[in-house]
Amino acid sequence: MKVTVFGIGYVGLVQAAVLAEVGHQVLCVDVNALRVENLKQGIIPIYEPGLTPLVEKHFASGYLNFTTDAAAGVQHGDVQFIAVGTPPDEDGSADLQYVLAVATTIANHMETAKVIIDKSTVPVGTADRVKARIAEVLKARNVVLEFDVVSNPEFLKEGAAVSDCMRPDRIIVGTYDDRPHDLMRELYEPFNRNHDKLIFMDVRSAELTKYAANCMLATKISFMNEMANLAEMLGADIEAVRKGIGSDPRIGYHFIYPGCGYGGSCFPKDVQALIRSSEQLGYTPKILQAVEAVNDKQKYKLPSLVQQHFGNELAGKTIALWGLSFKPNTDDMREASSRVLMETLWQAGAKVQAYDPEAMEETQRIYGVRDDLTLVGTKEAALKGAAALVICTEWQQFRAPDFDLIKAQLQHPVIFDGRNLFEPRRLEARGFTYYAIGRGETVAKAASKQVL
Ligand code: NAI
Repeated sequence: MKVTVFGIGYVGLVQAAVLAEVGHQVLCVDVNALRVENLKQGIIPIYEPGLTPLVEKHFASGYLNFTTDAAAGVQHGDVQFIAVGTPPDEDGSADLQYVLAVATTIANHMETAKVIIDKSTVPVGTADRVKARIAEVLKARNVVLEFDVVSNPEFLKEGAAVSDCMRPDRIIVGTYDDRPHDLMRELYEPFNRNHDKLIFMDVRSAELTKYAANCMLATKISFMNEMANLAEMLGADIEAVRKGIGSDPRIGYHFIYPGCGYGGSCFPKDVQALIRSSEQLGYTPKILQAVEAVNDKQKYKLPSLVQQHFGNELAGKTIALWGLSFKPNTDDMREASSRVLMETLWQAGAKVQAYDPEAMEETQRIYGVRDDLTLVGTKEAALKGAAALVICTEWQQFRAPDFDLIKAQLQHPVIFDGRNLFEPRRLEARGFTYYAIGRGETVAKAASKQVL
């Protein structure tokens, strides 16, 4: 099938590469000319495991191509994916200008019937707006053409995006009527093995399904962070509690890890957007508001532990930081907890010496060159001469470090662990002051020590 994908970001590029892998002919369109040019040179704009070889292979085979020429894009595909960003606008609502711009572009150039598939995460009612926009432009052009608008939200996880797209849990397809069903089945047939993963529904339910999924996951995280904060105050260990509750199959082990707050391009903005949508309807979404508030506060957990530990001595100190991306296996820094940490430390006059396996370029792009940020090439180099170590992201390579080396390199044997990677007692036995999330007794003890 001939497929066009508007927007070559995390979602568009991965989706396009995976569709090419199963034999669809995919043309990607982006307004970012540099991104398009780079992709043609084999420079992939994002880090995602398995993506680079897939893109290279299919660009070489001709199944995957890139252009800035929107008219060529519209002409190419029987189906037209909209996979552009929907960032929060000033009040937190989803900004639909990019989605509607693509709808206008498609309508301006279409000469044959098209199926327009909305992959971006959009508030309920957006498909109606896309449909109306296309109809309006076609009318102004004085042409009559059939078209369908389909809501097909994406559920990939950054860091596992290629495998998620190759083996999706479910494929949600929201349509106005049955007309596009066969075509959607054909498009996704290669991914629809073993059992039927396609779930057809109306467009509004499909749009809400995406928000409901992300808000449920964000709720699990904020709930666990709240329990972790309570555990600390009560002298309980949240890691024991986590295992205790996860063993109940109604709760399950997934997504109940306490930490230094969720980030990324999706959870914060999707929770916020659903709050705004609810408020516009005159409904107060109390759970979602609490999920957001707990998370906003949790992001300050590590910086305040550091400040509490060093007190007035923090200014002028260098803090080692492991992990910049909002989660492992990605270079995405959007809403990352590391950013709140760094910015708070800088405000307090401290310096940061940071390492991340993939997100260093992105960090440089965001913050530029500054005196209080040093990016180093290894996790060991980050420790050199630093007053303490902070861990923000649970990359595998941070899980079994050489503790003797950490101790030798740091000025003080202090670790602030935002991802609960280590066993507090073992670290204490090695002479570390170890702060983690919700590990009651240890945190209380360490806080009283105030090692400087
Ligand atoms: P992104 O910001 O990485 O990429 C968006 C791309 O769209 C950029 O390359 C931009 O230049 C391009 N673009 C903007 N306007 C355009 C236009 N008029 N024509 C062509 N290209 C245009 O965004 P990302 O992360 O891929 O997200 C896209 C959508 O998918 C968002 O709605 C997001 O919420 C949703 N989503 C994102 C997931 C993720 O993990 N990143 C997961 C599931 C859904």
